[in-house]
Amino acid sequence: MKDQVALLLLLSGLGLQAQNSLYIPPVLTGTTIGLTVDEGTHEFYPGMPAPTIGYNGDLLGPTLFLAAGSQVQFTVQNDLADTTTVHWHGLHVAPQNDGGPHSAILPGGTWSPSFTIMDKAGTYWYHPHPHGKTMEQVLKGAAGMIIVGDAEEAMLPLPRTYGVDDIPLVLQFKGIDAQGQLIMNDEVDNEVLVNGSILPDAELPAQVVRLRLLNGSSMRTFRLGTTAGVPMQMIASDAGLLDAPLSLNRLDLSPGERAEVLLDLSGMNGTSFQLMSYGNELPQGVMGGPPGMMLPAAPVDNTTLTLLNVNVIAPTPDAVTIVPSQLTTNVAWDEADASQTINLSLMSLPMMGNNWFINSLKYDMMRIDETVQLGSTVVWNISNNSMMAHPIHIHGGHFYILEKDGAPPPPQEAGRKDVVLVEAMRTAKVIMKYEDFSDPVVPYMYHCHILSHEDDGMMGQFLVEDGTNGMSEQEEGGLVVFPNPVEAGELTIASQAGSIRFVRILDPLGKVVRERNPNAAGPVQLDLEGFSPGPYLVQITGADGGQVARPILIQ
Ligand code: C2O
Ligand code: CU
Ligand code: CU
Repeated sequence: MKDQVALLLLLSGLGLQAQNSLYIPPVLTGTTIGLTVDEGTHEFYPGMPAPTIGYNGDLLGPTLFLAAGSQVQFTVQNDLADTTTVHWHGLHVAPQNDGGPHSAILPGGTWSPSFTIMDKAGTYWYHPHPHGKTMEQVLKGAAGMIIVGDAEEAMLPLPRTYGVDDIPLVLQFKGIDAQGQLIMNDEVDNEVLVNGSILPDAELPAQVVRLRLLNGSSMRTFRLGTTAGVPMQMIASDAGLLDAPLSLNRLDLSPGERAEVLLDLSGMNGTSFQLMSYGNELPQGVMGGPPGMMLPAAPVDNTTLTLLNVNVIAPTPDAVTIVPSQLTTNVAWDEADASQTINLSLMSLPMMGNNWFINSLKYDMMRIDETVQLGSTVVWNISNNSMMAHPIHIHGGHFYILEKDGAPPPPQEAGRKDVVLVEAMRTAKVIMKYEDFSDPVVPYMYHCHILSHEDDGMMGQFLVEDGTNGMSEQEEGGLVVFPNPVEAGELTIASQAGSIRFVRILDPLGKVVRERNPNAAGPVQLDLEGFSPGPYLVQITGADGGQVARPILIQ
């Protein structure tokens, strides 16, 4: 009897420990990256398996280590029962490689973009972006981290032993019901997951450690801090290193944002501390903070939450023990060089609850909202005319924040960014230069990174146009067919490989049901009137006789 109790205690103790140690996602690296997105199951609460989505696994995805300057061939296989896309959040890639709503991967299909990593060392991420379904797929678990390395960062004496002193932390508010099932509604968050588990334990060595923080939540902002008694030395924002480490006790991270911080744990061997979120300190209107008029309220709001338990262990032999004083030199673009201003007004329509708009419009895949010129510098003036803060994300590369509410941004937001949290009834001004990529048809997105808002249509799209000849240096093989799935109407087919000699649409039996000989250099539009719903294949023959095919779904 005694023995049994002891055994039970031992087993439950082990169980708890195994359950609670911080999961470190595996690494994929090199110049060929294969991702398979599929359904799975995960026990958020012990003994209660819940359906999930993951890349190459049940939940989340591998961390992609990409070297700046390398050309990477990606293959994404969609084994979901639903359409998806994969967006490389923060990476500077051509529109047809960006994985926005135009680059649908149908169930059973694959997508194989290839591009050169042009970004600076930093922490980026990937997640689905199919219009109207992004929140569901991300809430179910589809998200992974991307770590870009470059020569400049490699010269700095920073911790970079993955999982030992360089720790990826995917932080996500989620709603989980009493049966342990994920709730597909971001208004009711009641848990915080760190790399997929609730309140895990991490063992960190007593030396300088690096935390790579990603807010992969749908709606809420973290105000991070630790109980360690040492400040967080912030070294990077969304898209790369800051000029110099910035000593902080609190760090805000809104949905989509990333930060890297160093913690100097030297001499703390044997102690414990917690990574916390102080939602009770957030300003009103920032989701996760104090309740506001007409704002959804959830159990995690306006509270102090423990995210991660850290046990400090003995230092490693090659420990980093000092925080470098200088990191890089960021040079923001000059507002005087801007040739265009884009104004975005964020609003909700009164009496319509959470019904979100940009410039009074909802997203329409067939409407281009803004056009900018290749090579130009553009100022985005964002004014939030609602009572809720919105994290605004612009695709295509990074930006610099020029102003928040008419004043220079706080130092933690002065570096390379791709998300800016615009608080309720406040403004932000950011500057972005459009180098390298243009496309006459496929736009980049800009949107609120609260995923329910994005899905609801709080998103627009802009084209980068090359005024000189409509063709810029493009990556190989870009072919985009949209919208997909398509309802009866027009289908747009754009090929970056060159002109389109002819287009065929084949039915599931391989029979040609439509054929066109456009011999066109630009995009081709096909009328799908009269097609019965179902899967079809679009086959494109280029001027050189080369063929490519894309599956489409007519609804
Ligand atoms: Cu992280 Cu357009 O998204
Ligand atoms: Cu993005
Ligand atoms: Cu929003």
